[in-house]
Amino acid sequence: TTPLRLGIAGLGTVGTGLIKIVQTNGDLLARRAGRPIEIVAVCARSRTRNRGVDISTYDWEDDPVALARRDDIDIVVELMGGENGPAKALTEAAIAAGKHVVSANKALLAIHGQALAEAAEAQDVSLRFEAAVAGGIPVIKALSEGLAGNRITRIKGVMNGTCNYILTRMEDAGLPYETVFEEASQLGYLEADPTLDVGGIDAAHKLTLLSAIAFGVRPDFDAIALGGIERISIEDIRAAADLGLRIKLLGVAQMTGRGLEQSMTPCLVPADSPLGQLKGGTNMIVIEGDAVEQIILRGPGAGEGPTASAVIGDVIDIARGFRMPVFGQPATTLEAAVSAKAMGS
Ligand code: HSE
Repeated sequence: TTPLRLGIAGLGTVGTGLIKIVQTNGDLLARRAGRPIEIVAVCARSRTRNRGVDISTYDWEDDPVALARRDDIDIVVELMGGENGPAKALTEAAIAAGKHVVSANKALLAIHGQALAEAAEAQDVSLRFEAAVAGGIPVIKALSEGLAGNRITRIKGVMNGTCNYILTRMEDAGLPYETVFEEASQLGYLEADPTLDVGGIDAAHKLTLLSAIAFGVRPDFDAIALGGIERISIEDIRAAADLGLRIKLLGVAQMTGRGLEQSMTPCLVPADSPLGQLKGGTNMIVIEGDAVEQIILRGPGAGEGPTASAVIGDVIDIARGFRMPVFGQPATTLEAAVSAKAMGS
């Protein structure tokens, strides 16, 4: 059988994790995918940095776009990040060249997802991004496969582990925001631009994608009411605790009489609720649907193994020939769905 050939752009934490899974679980992956999965070429900022994995057997590409256009690659895995620049150029080039794309890039998809979805649809290739939302939690698969028969009424959850770490550490240790922020920085939890985390932007990118899938709307980051955790004080946390409440950076997307309402803001939740009990860097997504009622998904929202787990799951789906519309319905019908909603139908 012909192998399914990958080109990986970006060899940070997630890329390294992906290589480890491919190298360690090769037999298992081949059985599940029905054909061997092979890494052909890689591209990253540094060729020589020690990542703890052997990349010497893979072709090296200096230019991401050249990687995307290689004839000997079936799937381009985009793990570079960033809403514009090389990640966007690579993704567009890969789709234009007729390659499937597996991406962990929430910013890119939340901002340019509609255009990329239409391009992928026109080229008849898959664009999949389980790793972009809540790391190891297969929430996109849950929404678009297991819950596909439901009318989703509400999604809520904690989608940024760093903010949840900061808030729970403030609670548990009674430390001020600035001290815990510094601690999170030392531990390497924060994004290169920490505003993405503490400003709620990273989490709002994820909610944008979940909303698009759950409610059949185009991804619209600007439609989310956004607030970060930077101004939460230890006094706020104590006052909430006195009332049996905890403060969480909570994403909510719900269908109301006025249409779809979406927010990513610090919210009060009961301390003894599943969301209130969520500690540290973990993520939790609560999904409500007309048939299923409520399900709760909980797990690691970041990190090498968990995020790579989501990437390889998408790769295996593509290997199996499993195809689905990028945002839960074909991109070309999304505009129609949105205007119908606005007219109250
Ligand atoms: N900074 C993100 C988080 C990483 O803390 O959840 C995963 O997107």
